[in-house]
Amino acid sequence: MLKINIAVLVSGSGTNLQALIDASKAGTLKNGEIKTVISSKETAYALQRAKDNGIKAYCVPKRDFPDQQAFERRLIEILKSEGAELIVLAGFTIILSPYFINEYRDRIINIHPSLIPAFCGEGFYGLKVHQAALERGVKVTGATVHFVNEIPDGGKIILQRAVNVKDNDTPEILQRRVMMKAEWRILPKACEMVCKQLLKEKKAE
Ligand code: GAR
Repeated sequence: MLKINIAVLVSGSGTNLQALIDASKAGTLKNGEIKTVISSKETAYALQRAKDNGIKAYCVPKRDFPDQQAFERRLIEILKSEGAELIVLAGFTIILSPYFINEYRDRIINIHPSLIPAFCGEGFYGLKVHQAALERGVKVTGATVHFVNEIPDGGKIILQRAVNVKDNDTPEILQRRVMMKAEWRILPKACEMVCKQLLKEKKAE
């Protein structure tokens, strides 16, 4: 079966990568196949998850390059050599520049741990997002999967899911609930939706 070639970009523990791998195994992610994982951090547990599942993994730390463009040139080189057609940012902590985005226009999706447009944009990543939500006192938060454009967290929204905030939540407890109840569900689902559409376009070419 013809599938969309997916590359997943990570920087951390990779639980969202794991959700994609599990969806692949379960057959719910069926129009795409995760062929490549690229981590911006050597210590990312996501690299181990890739290895455990026989997925080709690369480690590309940004500090190994003189500037952002050189770093992105290396990412693009890998992605081209692997034939990637869809890039999934799953806990990737580096904001990509227009140079990279132009290479993969409408082919990059990102998972963000809030209901965009709340608590998003530059500086809002990981636990900081949940800290900000708790400080503001919101009663409902959640997660969003969206296309990536030049505006950080500003691209077209694909899926969102709401999660209740509870009294006495800490950022860590809230993060875990948002992951379990929202992120790990909507990321594979959105990924399948986008792959299905890309495959349809590919077949029509
Ligand atoms: C996830 O909560 C993801 O939504 C968030 O980082 C975490 C990565 O966890 N991403 C952002 O904050 C992007 N702005 P993971 O490595 O276990 O998937």
